[in-house]
Amino acid sequence: VRTPVGIVGAGPAGLFLAHLLHRQGIESVVLETRSREEVEGTIRAGVLEQWTVDLMQDLGLGDRMRREGHFHRGITLRFNGESWHLDFEDLTGGKRVTVYPQHEVLRDLIAARLANGGEIRFGVQDVQLHGLTTDRPRITYRNGDGEPEELHCDFIAGCDGSQGTSRQHVEGRTEYQHLYPFGWLGILVEAPPSHHELIYARHGRGFALLSTRSPDIQRMYLQCGPTDNAADFPDDLIWSELHRRLETVDGWTLTEGRIFQKNVIGMRSFVCDRMQHGRLYIAGDAAHIVPPTGAKGLNLAVADAVYLARGLEDFYGRGRRDRLEQYTATCLRRIWKAERFSWYMTTMLHTNPAEDPFEQRIHLADLDYVVHSRAAATALAENYVGLPLD
Ligand code: FAD
Ligand code: DHB
Repeated sequence: VRTPVGIVGAGPAGLFLAHLLHRQGIESVVLETRSREEVEGTIRAGVLEQWTVDLMQDLGLGDRMRREGHFHRGITLRFNGESWHLDFEDLTGGKRVTVYPQHEVLRDLIAARLANGGEIRFGVQDVQLHGLTTDRPRITYRNGDGEPEELHCDFIAGCDGSQGTSRQHVEGRTEYQHLYPFGWLGILVEAPPSHHELIYARHGRGFALLSTRSPDIQRMYLQCGPTDNAADFPDDLIWSELHRRLETVDGWTLTEGRIFQKNVIGMRSFVCDRMQHGRLYIAGDAAHIVPPTGAKGLNLAVADAVYLARGLEDFYGRGRRDRLEQYTATCLRRIWKAERFSWYMTTMLHTNPAEDPFEQRIHLADLDYVVHSRAAATALAENYVGLPLD
């Protein structure tokens, strides 16, 4: 089978890329190792940047998001027994926080892709890349029935996430990594919202985050150890920690409900400083990881897809290669800023047992600065709602 662009991975990076290319008349085939049900059922990100929301609308993929998404003016920060609201809409000239879960985004992208005749091959195995430094790279794999198949392409997009293998093909890369000595315990709860916006809390016992999913389902996170096991957290321990870390101001209470999912998420920062090799371009978590605190990972994956689509459009439409050649450099400028912001939010809001008391006071000073200085609040706000695309 021949296709202009072979896309490995049906996450946000791969699926947005397929839609962006299709809009320009460039066809592609998406290969995915998991089943459609698994892809659509994995609970991950929750927050979309304003331009990601606008892009979904532009691509004609925004109808359900407009109806079911939650649009917030800003967020609340809690620390030192105080609660402060940051009004992003005011600070950024009208941009908002959109809570619309990643798996709902993926459901919308998959449905629209299949409806317009685009291909996604789920449940493939043994995906291997060949001939990347030739003009005719190939992907070999086994289809859902275990039979060998081959895809002949002009270009390959490695959108296979942090555990994928496409990055290993990028020769001459340098990898930067930073580990954090904590993780998040994430829970899904059957309960009404306790607050109309997200609450990020720094507390002596550790970070806590109140988020939402729908009017009946809430998402909450609790700082835990990096290798903790979700099964070791009984429900009553989770609730007592959430109450202690979030109920730090008079008159506000957290509504409990049935916890129906628990998982532990590791925290790391990672950047691969080359994102292309011959006809292979890698995008999204395949090339970079951020800790979840800044809500940047999904959005950053989509930004890579936008830059790659622009490069491929120039190649097919005008025979120009300069944007493709500049792909890594263009992406890295945005990636390092998102890495900085995610690291800043993470270090400012978590209790790090490895830090000395001086460093802990610095983080409180940082929070105090953010809530009292319009300049500092604006800097946080413009990063949170998403810096403009280059
Ligand atoms: P992925 O979503 O990982 O997709 C890669 C796909 O490739 C997968 O479906 C995988 O099965 C497939 N694959 C792997 N190997 C192969 C192969 N060899 N062949 C074929 N297919 C393959 N980000 C935000 O922006 N906002 C948030 O609020 C946020 N919160 C988060 C909360 C949690 C708990 C977690 C875990 C993450 C969060 N993130 C958030 C990060 C976000 O989920 C990821 O950054 C995003 O999924 C990256 O998209 P991707 O397409 O690059 O990779
Ligand atoms: C969610 C995840 C985040 O990382 C974040 O900063 C805010 C919300 C969420 O899953 O709802």
